[in-house]
Amino acid sequence: MTVSRYRPVAGTARYDRLADEMGQRLGRGINFGNALDVQREGERGFRLEEPHFDTVKKAGFDTIRLPVKWSAHTDETPPYAIDPEFFGRVDWAVDNALGRDLNVVLNVHHYDQFCDAPEEHMARFLALWRQIATRYADCSGRLYFELLNEPRDPMTAKPWNDVLPKALTAVRESNPSRFVIAGSAQANHIDALPELELPEDDRVIVMVHYYSPFEFTHQGADWLAGADRWLGTTWGGEADQYAVRRDLTKAAAWAKQQNRQLFVGEFGAYSKADMASRSRWTTFVRSEAERLDMSWAYWEFGSDFGAYDPQRNTWREPLRQALLGK
Ligand code: BGC
Repeated sequence: MTVSRYRPVAGTARYDRLADEMGQRLGRGINFGNALDVQREGERGFRLEEPHFDTVKKAGFDTIRLPVKWSAHTDETPPYAIDPEFFGRVDWAVDNALGRDLNVVLNVHHYDQFCDAPEEHMARFLALWRQIATRYADCSGRLYFELLNEPRDPMTAKPWNDVLPKALTAVRESNPSRFVIAGSAQANHIDALPELELPEDDRVIVMVHYYSPFEFTHQGADWLAGADRWLGTTWGGEADQYAVRRDLTKAAAWAKQQNRQLFVGEFGAYSKADMASRSRWTTFVRSEAERLDMSWAYWEFGSDFGAYDPQRNTWREPLRQALLGK
């Protein structure tokens, strides 16, 4: 087996420190989705504010996943500079989370042109990561970098496996030991795990997203043509539970065999599903993930899957309980 150049040497202080951190878990998280991951902040009816960080911390979450659509705020030509004002807004969010001892998963979200034309956008994508990684290099180990949300067709497993070592190298230039998260292809699908080829680096955590059964979790989704025909789909029978358990067990077996931590970076059911089913599904997925030793982040906090109602400033109690218990 090749030894990673980031692998610390046993018996040294660095080894002990890293061994401690390896025990550090993302734990229970929530996505601040539809906030900084849209074209223009606010366009999905949600705007991130400072009290939201307190709300999440007080509820007992460990982690905030912060999806960011950098590509909407970055020059199209070299050196592909990120807009300083937008960078400042991301700084604000990262600082607010780290300042409350929350872990932050900072990613590149909705870079659709990159998935559509990987070769054409490669230099811009890597330039993004060089800028992001350098900017946050001194942040605490609670900050995690997630390389790309949901690689999808035509960015299939093969091109994605080619991107991974390049992106990781761009990060490692300034962040030799930070935890990095890499998802599977097919929009981080569990079925794409066997095709994922990870660079030799023991500080890479693997991410999957879980939205099965899709016709339940995405019923009535207004961005999906035909999703209205799924309205009224409920969830909770024995066969439903069996299917979720089977999927997550498969993922856990892969992770064990690969000796990787697994993070369910998104799971959730859209607001048009009935609340009783949403609550049952969320409870079941969350507790199965925990039983199988996976960290997780619910999709999402205050928008159309929202566990929290930002207009009324209250948690949607059945969802909060599904995630965190009584
Ligand atoms: C996307 C969201 C979408 C969610 C559920 C996320 O990765 O960014 O726009 O609502 O998945 O489909």
